[in-house]
Amino acid sequence: MKLGIIGCGAIGGDVAKTADEMDDIEEIYLYDIVEEKGVRLAEQLKKAKFEKVEKFLPLVDTVFEAASQQAVYEYAEMIIEAGKDLVIMTIGALFDDDFRERLIKKAKEKKCKIYLPSGAVAGIDGIKAASVGGLHEVTLVTTKAPEAFGKHFEKRTVLFDGNAREAVKLFPRNINVAACLSLAGVGFDETKVKVVADPVIKYNSHKILAHGKFGRLRAEVENLPNPKNPSTSYLASLSAIAVLKKLVNPLQIGI
Ligand SMILES: NC(=O)c1ccc[n+]([C@@H]2O[C@H](COP(=O)([O-])OP(=O)(O)OC[C@H]3O[C@@H](n4cnc5c(N)ncnc54)[C@H](O)[C@@H]3O)[C@@H](O)[C@H]2O)c1
Repeated sequence: MKLGIIGCGAIGGDVAKTADEMDDIEEIYLYDIVEEKGVRLAEQLKKAKFEKVEKFLPLVDTVFEAASQQAVYEYAEMIIEAGKDLVIMTIGALFDDDFRERLIKKAKEKKCKIYLPSGAVAGIDGIKAASVGGLHEVTLVTTKAPEAFGKHFEKRTVLFDGNAREAVKLFPRNINVAACLSLAGVGFDETKVKVVADPVIKYNSHKILAHGKFGRLRAEVENLPNPKNPSTSYLASLSAIAVLKKLVNPLQIGI
């Protein structure tokens, strides 16, 4: 498989380094808006070279976005129009209903796939399966130290209690997790979100609570930061790499 990567930061770098060691990956094309970052990463790898997206697009099978919302708006339609599969890490860009529906329609026409890794949360597999039978309620509880919100509290304080559509406007840093959960389950308007500041907590925690015809689900992750970007959870990089492995593996585990 030939791979294009947009964004050579924490996640893009982790994906590129793993891809470089995988026998199934023949060539890697890297692009970053900061050319120096892409060139520097390419120099550390055996199979990679820096190239503009427009140039590498005809040469690759799949493109991995690990950059920004702006990059998704700029390149996603172009990638799908070219009939290439696309992995999107910046899932928050799909919050825009019109944009998302346009991408899905185009992907159907072009017979290609858009992959959304589960990122910094666990339990997306269960939510997807449960949604087939009918989910009654899905809640995301995100808990961080008060400093992560630029605040100081002596005790646990609920900062927000509403739906995912409102939450992503007020807490844009939570947007990827809330977007992934909403799209897997009951949508942005029905997914409940609670954002909590807790002075006792050491890790950023995302807890998913759901119930429906299947029973109840409770999944919680206490995330350590990515050493290269403290605002990105390390699990997000690992889930991106797991999707890369899924793309080339004949054995497909889970959903
Ligand atoms: N799905 C999830 O759970 C999850 C978790 C963490 C991060 N993310 C998202 O994944 C993306 C990457 O995260 P990261 O931690 O690697 O970030 P990062 O800041 O470490 O790296 C991003 C890189 O993309 C480059 N970039 C930005 N805009 C670009 C553009 N328009 N074109 C090309 N390159 C561009 C930057 O120069 C930078 O090198 C972010 O958008 C982040 O919000 C998603």
